[in-house]
Amino acid sequence: MLNFEFHNPTHIVFGKDTVPSLNRLVPHDARVLILYGGQSAERNGTLAEVRQALGDRAWYEFGGIEPNPSFETLTRAVEQVRTQNISFLLAVGGGSVIDGTKFVAAAAKYADDPWRILETVGSVIEDALPFGAVLTLSATGSEMNFNSVVTRKATQTKAFFASPHVFPKFSILDPTKTYTLPPQQLANGVVDAFTHVVEQYLTYPVEARVQDRFAEGLLQTLIEVGPKVVHEPADYDSRASMMWAATMALNGLIGAGVPQDWATHLVGHELTAQFGMDHARTLAILLPSMLSIRRESKRAKLIQYAERVWHITTGSEDERIDQAIRKTRAFFESLGVKTRLSGYGIPADAIDGLVQQLQAHGMTQLGEHSDVTLEISRQVFEASI
Ligand code: NZQ
Ligand code: ZN
Repeated sequence: MLNFEFHNPTHIVFGKDTVPSLNRLVPHDARVLILYGGQSAERNGTLAEVRQALGDRAWYEFGGIEPNPSFETLTRAVEQVRTQNISFLLAVGGGSVIDGTKFVAAAAKYADDPWRILETVGSVIEDALPFGAVLTLSATGSEMNFNSVVTRKATQTKAFFASPHVFPKFSILDPTKTYTLPPQQLANGVVDAFTHVVEQYLTYPVEARVQDRFAEGLLQTLIEVGPKVVHEPADYDSRASMMWAATMALNGLIGAGVPQDWATHLVGHELTAQFGMDHARTLAILLPSMLSIRRESKRAKLIQYAERVWHITTGSEDERIDQAIRKTRAFFESLGVKTRLSGYGIPADAIDGLVQQLQAHGMTQLGEHSDVTLEISRQVFEASI
């Protein structure tokens, strides 16, 4: 196992009817800014519950944070924080709203050009406004981690930052809040959480038995509940397991003390930046090709994945690996998520532009061995047509 430090200060309140606990979680003298996305949280009554729970605190609202939150929109929220002298932020939504809130929290305390936060991957952050979250979509794990992804529309740059200053103080995880999600978003959530586990698990062995077994348990849980979550009427038990699995997939626990990959995510960001594709769909397209093309350096873990997650124990090593990758692709497809670029109308001649953008964004040495060069990324795109 590799050396590690693990610290996760986010207070989780999990379960039905937990939104009223905001009253004890948000400081009584806070001036609160509620941040949300489009209209989903208004329509399903979550915002009404939030307003009620805040009672007579001074609260304000900033709506309109879009999926793949934009720097441009978030900069307006930072201005509102300053003019209204806000002391506490409350994100009500999915990963985009929570990520956006992390950016606003850091930018509000940063005097220089806020894009520096992204350019330095968060290292310039020395302070941030405190914030909490009410989660309405299980996918990213943003509710219990210190990562954020922000897109600068003007330059089509989807950039990432991380800082211990932007852990949520608390997150309210009420699985019933996901009942109003459309099947496409539910399927996205399963694929995103699944890929988060794979990016931290499917690298090379370091005798990290605890992390491996946790990761395999999360993958098996997602395989079990995923189809139910997407195709069957909402029920509490499957939504609860889905929500907790997605949170545990990216809260630092399974990634502590192990090598991490993230090439699928970073290459996928270019597809979102150029074509506006949902984050999880980029992963569904790229992950099977990524695993296949990098099978030599991932061989031992691919065989472990085949055996322990998919119960594949016969055939040559390559046959087992091929079968595990086929099953992964079939799992995503079974949720209604297409796994080929052509399924989204993206032609082969888009690949040159995508590779150029990877180069422009410095994505030239990705993966657990820093060996995912532009040439490998090109091969991955070509194998994903
Ligand atoms: O905007 P509204 O109207 O709220 O609608 C949203 C949005 O259109 C809707 N929605 C959310 N909760 C709902 C609902 N609709 C009905 N009922 C509900 N209860 O769902 C749509 C998508 O929401 P979004 O927040 O964009 O989805 P997700 O949670 O998948 O977040 C994606 C973003 O997170 C980033 C992605 O790159 C992307 O920008 N990621 C963040 C990570 C992190 N912080 O650790 C890691 C991930 O790998 C990911 O990169
Ligand atoms: Zn993701």
